[in-house]
Amino acid sequence: MTTERSSWQIQNEAVLGELIDLMNLHADEQRLLGELSSTATAVAPAMTEAFYARLFAHPHTAEYLQGVHQDRLHSMLQQWFIALFCGTYDEAYARSRMSIGQIHVRIGLPVRYPLAMLDVVMPFGEQVARQSSQPEAALKAFHKVLALDVAIFNQAYEDNQLRHLAELVGGERLARRLLLGQ
Ligand code: HEM
Repeated sequence: MTTERSSWQIQNEAVLGELIDLMNLHADEQRLLGELSSTATAVAPAMTEAFYARLFAHPHTAEYLQGVHQDRLHSMLQQWFIALFCGTYDEAYARSRMSIGQIHVRIGLPVRYPLAMLDVVMPFGEQVARQSSQPEAALKAFHKVLALDVAIFNQAYEDNQLRHLAELVGGERLARRLLLGQ
């Protein structure tokens, strides 16, 4: 018998607020990251180069980039990276990150690829954080913000799967039980 979990009641927009609470990102941490915005802007082009070099080097990921306007993609990814250091991590921020996750759901991209790309993003973000006047605190704050992004990206995939399965089987509870293997 499945135990009903209170987290199952947290849905849609409420997930964003819940995650922001969970990350416990203090005002001083937000401020520290916000102070690094121009440093992030300077580092963003190198991060983007490394990011797409990695994706183009692998046939399964390169396939998704064929025929997509590269300048636009580079610019969007740079904006995404710079926004990690925007200094305000509220529901509007989380909502914009969720819509980026949803775009990847819609192109049929397996979630393992965006998650694996943290290997490229992480060192560039850490490079930015280390230039803070308080590098240790900024690094800790950066890791929280990146974890928030991972959680939201993943949630976009889970929402989509659960919604479709619930439609198919006629209810969310049954869909959750099926996903549990019951
Ligand atoms: C950390 C992981 C990733 C981040 C942060 C990211 C970020 C973004 C952003 C910000 C956009 C623009 C969204 C918009 O139009 O508002 C985008 C679009 C896109 N991304 Fe990613 N991405 C990631 C991983 C990937 C991977 C692994 C691939 C392919 C292998 C990929 C392929 C694409 C494609 C094809 C688009 C264009 C979609 C369209 O406009 O039809 N992304 N990405």
